[in-house]
Amino acid sequence: MNFDSTLIPLYKDHLIELQKKISKILDELKMDSILIHSGQERIKYLDDSAYPFVANPMFVYFVPLTHLPNSFIYMEKGMRPTLYYYKKISYWFKMPEDPADFLYQYFDIKIIDEDSKMLSDLGDSKIRNTIYIGEYPEIAKNSTVNANFKACNPDDLITEIHYIRTFKSNYEQECIRRANKIAVSAHQRCAELFQEGKYSELDLHLEYLRSVGCSPIRMPFENIVAFNENAATLHYIDYNHTRPPLAASSAAKQNIYSMLLDAGAAYNGYAADITRTYSFNNSDDNSDFKALIDAVNEMQLNIIHSFTLNSRYTDHHQQAHIGIAQILIDFKMLKNISAEDAVTKKISNVFFPHGLGHFLGIQVHDVGGQLKNGKEKYKLPDDHPYLRYLTELRPGHVFTVEPGLYFIDSLLDDLKKSEENNKYVDWNTVDKFRKFGGIRIEDDIIIKEDGQFENITRKLLP
Ligand code: GLY
Ligand code: MN
Ligand code: MN
Repeated sequence: MNFDSTLIPLYKDHLIELQKKISKILDELKMDSILIHSGQERIKYLDDSAYPFVANPMFVYFVPLTHLPNSFIYMEKGMRPTLYYYKKISYWFKMPEDPADFLYQYFDIKIIDEDSKMLSDLGDSKIRNTIYIGEYPEIAKNSTVNANFKACNPDDLITEIHYIRTFKSNYEQECIRRANKIAVSAHQRCAELFQEGKYSELDLHLEYLRSVGCSPIRMPFENIVAFNENAATLHYIDYNHTRPPLAASSAAKQNIYSMLLDAGAAYNGYAADITRTYSFNNSDDNSDFKALIDAVNEMQLNIIHSFTLNSRYTDHHQQAHIGIAQILIDFKMLKNISAEDAVTKKISNVFFPHGLGHFLGIQVHDVGGQLKNGKEKYKLPDDHPYLRYLTELRPGHVFTVEPGLYFIDSLLDDLKKSEENNKYVDWNTVDKFRKFGGIRIEDDIIIKEDGQFENITRKLLP
């Protein structure tokens, strides 16, 4: 947990506003109180050690305690919340710190060392009226209390909370800005080291972690450090440890062409999610790939400049497909076809097979991207099943913009076999790019209250 004097007032406003919103939702749904469980350590199958702990994001939404299992927030409509703070003597693992002083201003804090302490403190009649939110609804049944919760994770409540989570408070926006700042310096460090041509994917992955000062299990997502054709695997996390041969010591080619680095950082549980792609400067034949990176980069910035409040993200996703198709035409990978037709015929999907972006927050792929309001969802477009952000662009939204252009063997094989589409492809040109794997450029955007779009990544990483 990171707090300084500038963040505490923002957090206070966040929490007050959140309590008001939750009270209103409870009122509408005729509910009295909620109990949000941070989670439990989960033991690996047939083992005695635990998976990395990931807190219930609903818990982190209230309080930035990302590593405090067995804890709870209890909130009654209109009342000050109670934080049941788990702290048990242990000599196996580091015990949690005492609650930070400032938290006492906003919560009634009760230290517990088992669930039953919380349950007996609430008592049967409150438990019977309370909605449980979390992964372990059996805790009441398994205890000595006589009551069970009124309901556990009801869809209507969860959907309403997911919807309010799509509008980030100033506190949340600031945490995501700070996460970006941390991530950007690690990106810059790895970009420099990559050009030295001495390091492996694993080296740069470890250097990234060192630079953000975080163990891998506490990162918001696994770093993607992909050299060459590995960049064509969208979620490549294998970290080859083989270092390239040293160019200075031999005439041998180094066989490094490109690096795609998709990595973030977390601040009080809020994520940054940033991608850059680099061509290797010492490679003789990288100039076309460098130009291709520049073209994708320019297209990404054009999309961001075209954003207007209330436009649909799905339309911008479509715009990105036209952009990718046009780049493929400009670089002579497609011929005798217009960009629009290449999109209609789903050829652009072969090169850009993921969504343009997603909400960003406590979860890297944050919730609510399909929600029209607190009740209804937009349907996923049939042609773009991986798009996660379908709604209008609204003040408070925080999201990524990450177009990509990849050379993925399995998808290219299908394209080659397509009687209808094969004729539009210049395979000689496409094949020359395969060794570079692919390109993704990803920035994080905040839509501010006044409707301005703030590209929080570019400010730091031009
Ligand atoms: N890093 C995962 C993503 O960009 O969505
Ligand atoms: Mn992303
Ligand atoms: Mn990413």
